[in-house]
Amino acid sequence: MAARRMISSSYAPTLLRSLGTYYSGRGTGISKFSTAAAAAAALEEPITPPVKVELTKLLINGQFVDAASGKTFPTLDPRTGQLIANVAEGDIEDVNRAVSAARKAFDEGPWPRMTAYQRSKILLRFADLVEKHTDEIAALEAWDNGKPYEQAASVEIPLFVRLFRYYAGWADKIHGLTLQADGPHHVQTLHEPIGVAGQIIPWNFPLLMYSWKVGPALACGNTVVLKTAEQTPLSALYVSKLFHEAGLPPGVLNIVSGFGPSAGAALASHMDVDKLAFTGSTNTGQIVLGLAARSNLKPVTLELGGKSPFIVCEDANVDEAVDLAHDALFFNQGQCCCAGSRTFVHERVYDEFVEKAKARALKRVVGDPFRKGVEQGPQVDSEQFDKILKYIRSGVDGGATLETGGQRFGSNGYYIQPTVFSNVQDDMLIATDEIFGPVQTILKFKDINEVIRRANATHFGLAAGVFTQNLDTANTLTRALKAGTVWINCFDVFDAAIPFGGYKMSGHGREKGIYSLNNYLQVKAVVTHLKNPAWL
Ligand code: NAI
Ligand code: MG
Repeated sequence: MAARRMISSSYAPTLLRSLGTYYSGRGTGISKFSTAAAAAAALEEPITPPVKVELTKLLINGQFVDAASGKTFPTLDPRTGQLIANVAEGDIEDVNRAVSAARKAFDEGPWPRMTAYQRSKILLRFADLVEKHTDEIAALEAWDNGKPYEQAASVEIPLFVRLFRYYAGWADKIHGLTLQADGPHHVQTLHEPIGVAGQIIPWNFPLLMYSWKVGPALACGNTVVLKTAEQTPLSALYVSKLFHEAGLPPGVLNIVSGFGPSAGAALASHMDVDKLAFTGSTNTGQIVLGLAARSNLKPVTLELGGKSPFIVCEDANVDEAVDLAHDALFFNQGQCCCAGSRTFVHERVYDEFVEKAKARALKRVVGDPFRKGVEQGPQVDSEQFDKILKYIRSGVDGGATLETGGQRFGSNGYYIQPTVFSNVQDDMLIATDEIFGPVQTILKFKDINEVIRRANATHFGLAAGVFTQNLDTANTLTRALKAGTVWINCFDVFDAAIPFGGYKMSGHGREKGIYSLNNYLQVKAVVTHLKNPAWL
């Protein structure tokens, strides 16, 4: 447990590597394999997850209820494609019920009316409860998503807890201003919650996305209807039960499991939802923005896809750069919106880099996410699995050099071999599209102006990584790159205080940090006439 506490705030993959040796894997019965072949063979007998699935219904007005239609949908184990549980399938009528509950909780309930300090205490109690139940929550997340249990327990849940504590700290520090106007007026602004927030999240980081959305919304005094991703509905139900144990009043947080075109679209176009936050693909982002515009013009924040450059300059320490670039791409099975998915390497160090990147990928431990020391589990579902293999084929057909990988791993479930391409050209699909899988594409560059131009030649603009010892190079790239985050000599640092979001088609607005509060607040100007201007 001490090791977990050590990393509760920031850099994920590097710390996770060092943590692998400390973490007990309590209750998982996990052990290590020495060869990839042995690990692949072992996939035939998946480890039994150390948790039971108890919550599968919708959470509306503080109660777990069936869908109005009575329908359910299966959530599947990515290790095998087999059923984990059938989950209530929310649709329009359920979204209506959830929005009514959230509306009533906002208009009449205690949440926006209690003091901000009382709200903050409930958020803190919730964070404590989640921390206490780390093992079960991590197991549900690993089972539903396929990510390594150690990663969920040691990285994501500490970040989740940190985020709720961070926004609990903000709750009673949200306030307006007193302003100077030119006239006999006392002018102030009130920062008020917006109302009912609709939130739609994806499957790659179900818990983190829950925290980034629910944390600031509730800290500001809003109420929420959250639609989880159809691939990963389980962990949100579990933690939301804990939220009610922590004292959250009914109706403040409602969880609707279900599909995008039905439940998701109903939420995005609902006339009684006052604000929408979405994370997912750029295509779906365009759809929900249109639905919001055509219904009640609710403001929308969008956190969408990316094709982030990771730039290795000629002065870089190649060994460190290789490790960092590896983590930047392969973390979370490559299913990260900000993955460093275009690895630009200076020509002077290119050959050495490619050789070492290949060696590192060959060492990557793929296997059952419940096994100790596993770095990479299966992709989330068959759709993503097929899509990634298609991109790999297009890379081969297009003439990129396949250095390693390129095939499925084992014969069960959705595992893919860590794959590295070199000699990638800018116009190949593997260099332009978001693959969202364990496929590293390495491109060569000659000088800094060229790499700036090429790195920015994309509709995306979520993140960028820069690896250099030269301060001037770092400063130039930091300012020139069109991306919402630039990491210098690090990557994937996700502290609650650091804002995250995209330029261009990677999205609108920022989440986390102080910036996310604005998404969930209205500003009201209050102007009072002063009778006696002598006391202006
Ligand atoms: P998606 O964008 O379709 O799904 C994300 C969320 O949006 C889910 O909750 C889904 O149910 C919901 N949704 C889907 N259609 C909707 C609609 N018409 N109205 C309202 N909500 C809707 O992403 P999907 O299909 O799971 O993955 C496709 C690709 O998107 C991935 O291969 C990846 O490239 C990208 N993606 C990017 C993510 C990111 O973090 N930026 C996360 C997930 C996927
Ligand atoms: Mg979809």
